[in-house]
Amino acid sequence: MNPSHHRLATDSLMALAGLALLALPTPSSAAPNHPDPRQSLGFTPEEQAIFLGDMRHMLGSVQQILRGIADDDREMIIAAAQRSGNRMARNTPESIRAKTPPEFRAIGGPMHLAFEEIAVRAEVDPLEDITAMTAEAMNQCMACHAQFRVD
Ligand code: HEC
Repeated sequence: MNPSHHRLATDSLMALAGLALLALPTPSSAAPNHPDPRQSLGFTPEEQAIFLGDMRHMLGSVQQILRGIADDDREMIIAAAQRSGNRMARNTPESIRAKTPPEFRAIGGPMHLAFEEIAVRAEVDPLEDITAMTAEAMNQCMACHAQFRVD
């Protein structure tokens, strides 16, 4: 191969490798070579049990909000949304809170607030708006799950 071609090929390979690195998540506390590249929160088994229990309650909230929308049952939507709102945030044990990095709280805080807003707006707003707000709030479920793991 002519040397300048070789040079070009090497340069583009390096550029590609650089891009691939940029695209990778950058876990700060994950063990190297861990098969799951998400950032570890380092919760104890007890903390995991409490935290994952809250998560299942949030899944239940979303399910009940959708059920309430389908049945035109605003009381059901309001009660379901309130369960995953600020009350849940306030009840998070201090040991768990202390282990969550700012990037985690930056997703979790607004999500609990979004549920509070759903509860308030479900009193009178058109149900299509409540559906849209729920879909919007669920972007935060997706964002956090892509980035963190509990163990
Ligand atoms: C700020 C971060 C964050 C947000 C927001 C979040 N989750 Fe999670 N969730 C987690 C983490 C971390 C796990 C554990 C993932 C792991 O270790 O594999 C988890 C796990 C779960 C689980 C599995 C529970 C179990 O028993 O294993 C469910 C269900 C769940 N989340 C539902 C939701 C729903 C629904 C929402 C949004 C309404 C949501 N989560 C929002 C961080 C979050």
